[in-house]
Amino acid sequence: MSKWVRNSLLGLEDLSEFEIMKIIETAESFALQEPKQSSEKSLLSGYRIINLFMEPSTRTRVAFEIAAKSLGADVISISGEASSLTKGESLKDTALNVKALGADAIVIRHSSPGSPLLLSRIVDLPIINAGDGAHEHPSQGLLDIFTLRQKLGEIKGKRITILGDILFSRVARSNLFGLTTLGAKVTLAGPSTLVPKEFSQMGARVTHNLEEALVDADAVMLLRIQHERQSAKHFPSLSEYSKMFGLNNRVLNYMKKEAVVLHPGPLNRGVEIESELADSNRALILNQVKNGIAVRMAILYLCTRSNNLS
Ligand code: CP
Repeated sequence: MSKWVRNSLLGLEDLSEFEIMKIIETAESFALQEPKQSSEKSLLSGYRIINLFMEPSTRTRVAFEIAAKSLGADVISISGEASSLTKGESLKDTALNVKALGADAIVIRHSSPGSPLLLSRIVDLPIINAGDGAHEHPSQGLLDIFTLRQKLGEIKGKRITILGDILFSRVARSNLFGLTTLGAKVTLAGPSTLVPKEFSQMGARVTHNLEEALVDADAVMLLRIQHERQSAKHFPSLSEYSKMFGLNNRVLNYMKKEAVVLHPGPLNRGVEIESELADSNRALILNQVKNGIAVRMAILYLCTRSNNLS
């Protein structure tokens, strides 16, 4: 396939290398210009984007809002607590009503895996997954790939370690799918209770040894512990987790000097990452946040205009 044809973005698992690179290269062209420049301001003029966020968010929601506005679209954000879902309305009826109100696309974050897929089958609108349970967070995976390319160049052959709570992480899954499609060598690391060996069937190396995870990595992506999705304890205490798997100045000695550190946020300083390291030049955390605007502009543009693109 050599043409963008999708009008929804549900995950990175099914995306081809061409499709991932189409989004990344479109985002790179947007990032070359200041978001406020006029040439982009009219691309989605007259479009209405609805952000339906049923879980808390700072980075993703705001970046989608800025991205839509930067392309000239109207954007309306609805949070779970402020919607009629609290009165018993179903997600299907919410989406159908949002469509009746003139939506041209829905960006959805929901705690249930598969909610964006369900909506895409019910509502004839572009659906963008902004995080569904522990399943996928494709725009995060894409902005991570974008940021890695900025620092490391071509992704093929690069060694990327994802460290932390892999089991409950939608960010880990989207990155694993996207990075392996582009030819990266991905290592998943953390406590055995949070990084089951079965993940190796998805094309990753799995290790529970921190030194082994860090020693040959070109980049290390840290994940926080997803307490909101865990019903049982997977390690004795946060301080023990931090001692065994936290990234601090002591374990930095295991890493290559030029290796970079990423984190999707929100950070738990002093748990998965030492505060000083989070603020250092090795950390690309705020670059990731900034790049999230251009990447989400590309997603909105490609998905809503796909029928008009040659
Ligand atoms: N990375 C991320 O999804 O952050 P938010 O929860 O703040 O959107």
